[in-house]
Amino acid sequence: MTVQAVVAENPGIASRHVADIVQRQLEEKPNAVFMLPTGSTPLRLYALLVEMVELEKISFSKAVTFNLDEYLGIGKRHRQSYHRFMWDNFFGRVGISSKNVSIPEPNPKDIERFCEAYEERVKRAGLDMAILGIGENGHIGFNEPGTSFSSETHLTKLSKSTIKANSRFFRSEKQVPKEAITAGLKTIMLAKKVILLAFGKKKAKAVKRALEGKPSEEVPASILQMHGNVLFVLDREAASLLKKTRLKPPSIENVKIYSSFNLPKGKRIGFFSPHPDDAAISAGALLSSLAEKNKVFEIVMTTGHRAIDSGKGRRQRIRARERETKASAKVIGTKPIFLKSRFYDNGEEIQESDIRKTRALMRKLKPQIVFVPQRLDPHPTHLLSRKTALASIPHHVELWAYETPWALFGHKRFNACFQFSEKEMRKKLKAIRRHESQVQRTRFDTAAKNIAEFRRIIIAEQMFSQLGKKPLETKPYLELFSISKW
Ligand code: F6R
Repeated sequence: MTVQAVVAENPGIASRHVADIVQRQLEEKPNAVFMLPTGSTPLRLYALLVEMVELEKISFSKAVTFNLDEYLGIGKRHRQSYHRFMWDNFFGRVGISSKNVSIPEPNPKDIERFCEAYEERVKRAGLDMAILGIGENGHIGFNEPGTSFSSETHLTKLSKSTIKANSRFFRSEKQVPKEAITAGLKTIMLAKKVILLAFGKKKAKAVKRALEGKPSEEVPASILQMHGNVLFVLDREAASLLKKTRLKPPSIENVKIYSSFNLPKGKRIGFFSPHPDDAAISAGALLSSLAEKNKVFEIVMTTGHRAIDSGKGRRQRIRARERETKASAKVIGTKPIFLKSRFYDNGEEIQESDIRKTRALMRKLKPQIVFVPQRLDPHPTHLLSRKTALASIPHHVELWAYETPWALFGHKRFNACFQFSEKEMRKKLKAIRRHESQVQRTRFDTAAKNIAEFRRIIIAEQMFSQLGKKPLETKPYLELFSISKW
């Protein structure tokens, strides 16, 4: 079974994605039962959940939690005990009732009996969601390599690699406890849903072995391949060695956040561009990323010759715009197709002949993803292009509506964004400027850059910050889209 992975640009976005999942879980079931990790990985998640509780977006007042593990022989108040970690970073700040919290005892009188009782309590409560980190050696909880897939809560010896990795929290390696009590692999598999978080280059190998290696007790996390409802949530570095796994974008407040590495792959894509330069202006950055791993056709609906005012004849103007479009498409990596729709010359209604021509093109191209201008775009050419496209595209395509300088999306009228860098912006600007005749007339390059920057600033404030708290960091520019099934 292939496990899916959500891959975010950075740990902040990844953690927010998981915080949203936790929020939904609590909305669905306020007394949900969680298995929780410690370590450095979940710290951002806990901080976000604390913020959400402060803003009264969620409540843990009825939630029940079990911790994965605790060092053996450490004092509960020791700075590095997992009791202390959980109360300092989370429990003490979210108003959870201590009677709903279970963490393995660091000094049980009878270890075996304690483990049995802990396992029993987990089973009786029924785990709705287990949230996990992963060790560099592939451990989950403290189930070190070699632990049986059928293990329940048990006493375990920490491996050399874990002691070394965790020595960063202690004064020296010597002071790291050598044993721990941990929920077993079978215990974790009891959860209805499992979410594994991993950030940073150091985790890339373990993530790769867990997701794409053969399941083996040598890689404890690989057991998760046999669980039907697992999500790996990674940052870009932790995902950097994955080859076979489908990488999905994270989403926050129901907005998918795409970057160059979590886009669709291997698809046939048709971009309906009303005028020759709309593709570059509205989605130049996304298209040039998509074009690397998909076949992207830029379907130019109209000749656009009316927008050239050079005293030349119609034919020459059409040819000039085609030349510019080819040069621009070359920068982006798309293949232009010129439809020369008749509605552009014949007035204000869509034309049957245009629909016939567009349908024939669709039969040839067989696109799986289609882009059109957004619904509220008032520009007459954009409107007719959209209508003609929608009357012609096959059912079941994924429809991506885009915004143009003529009509920006209203608040929450979009559900996807593509975040991109200065370098990607330079390429987008280059593609726009290939439409020389247009940029001379109106600075669409400047407009497009300002819109993408404005989008990042405003979206960060309106959607990716928790009501006035610090917004998440994204790349400097965004292009926005509204995705639906047609
Ligand atoms: C801790 C736990 C461990 C950690 C793992 C990664 O409760 O169960 O499996 O998740 O050791 O630790 P960090 O996040 O510090 O890299």
